[in-house]
Amino acid sequence: MRILGIETSCDETAAALVEETGERQRPWRVRSSVVASQVAVHRAWGGVVPELSARQHVRDICGVVREALEAGGGTYDAIAVTQGPGLVGSLLVGVSFGKALAWARGVPVVPVHHLAGHIESLVLEHGEVPLPAVVLVVSGGHTSLYRIEQPGHYELLGRTRDDAAGEAFDKVAKLLGLAYPGGPAIDLVSRHGNDRAVPFPKTRLTHADRNAPHLPGHRDFSFSGLKTSVARHIAARRSDLGHEALSPAEVADIAASFQRVVVESLLDRLFEAARGYGARSIGIAGGVSANSRLREEALARGAAREVPVFIPSLALSTDNAAMIAAAGLRRYRAGTVAGFDLNADPSLPLQAA
Ligand code: KG4
Ligand code: ZN
Repeated sequence: MRILGIETSCDETAAALVEETGERQRPWRVRSSVVASQVAVHRAWGGVVPELSARQHVRDICGVVREALEAGGGTYDAIAVTQGPGLVGSLLVGVSFGKALAWARGVPVVPVHHLAGHIESLVLEHGEVPLPAVVLVVSGGHTSLYRIEQPGHYELLGRTRDDAAGEAFDKVAKLLGLAYPGGPAIDLVSRHGNDRAVPFPKTRLTHADRNAPHLPGHRDFSFSGLKTSVARHIAARRSDLGHEALSPAEVADIAASFQRVVVESLLDRLFEAARGYGARSIGIAGGVSANSRLREEALARGAAREVPVFIPSLALSTDNAAMIAAAGLRRYRAGTVAGFDLNADPSLPLQAA
């Protein structure tokens, strides 16, 4: 079986053809994957502008789908589309396009949760991972920990109480005057910085989340305090310098120190949870998993504790439609197909397949 994946939840218009291999251990193979990034559209505003994003998806979707079909051999038996979460106007473009194409071609539509796509990118890349697994999904909009006991069943263990890690990267980059998008820019300049130059605090949450009392409570993340201390530090330093710009060396030190704290906070929780739940493997997915320090340190900690750590390749870390197609194949095989009343849901919860 072959499926066409469509992803338009944020600022990438993406389409991909993914097929089943028939092998249990490595169930899927990517035939084509096309991503049209809107970075250039949003750069002038320093962040994603929802209305511009939706309009750009409308312009790009036909060409992106056509290119994925031409590169991947044309035929497909179903369409998987990101239903949510994300920007509603952007999601609507993919959902409407997917439904229209499904109706025209007489194939079923499979709704996919964006984070299920990020999680399944691990399987798409590495094959089925040893279960139980603990997976960290860390992107511009989400920082969440999941336990997976059975393929396709994702149990939320903890999540950010405020900013997502990617959002913190983007905001701190803006404070430092680095280029948009901020995550890759911080990653790059940090290589030349001293990561112990500024002792930014690591947030440790000690109280249960009043808004989600069903969650265990101590596996949550928080990045807004860190972001505020970076902002205060930069303001104090600029005032010391008579409001001159910080030198590139100082920017690199601040970026590296911030990045070290984010990476340690993420990995401390992830490895604690993996130990607590007796995980046989650890996964990290989502745009921030492209971060070079996070990748290196996660692999080193995994090697030291003899737990395999899986991270997708860079192309599958950031938003793409191959991961949506893979998650769609999983859901389709579990019996999920949508009707033509399928609607975009900007705050869709992640449920079992
Ligand atoms: O998963 P993704 O492509 O889109 C969302 O679903 O949000 O993640 C985008 C996020 C952005 O915040 C971006 O700055 C961050 O991933 N990111 C990085 C790196 N590459 C992308 N953050 C840190 N280091 C990177 N190398
Ligand atoms: Zn994403």
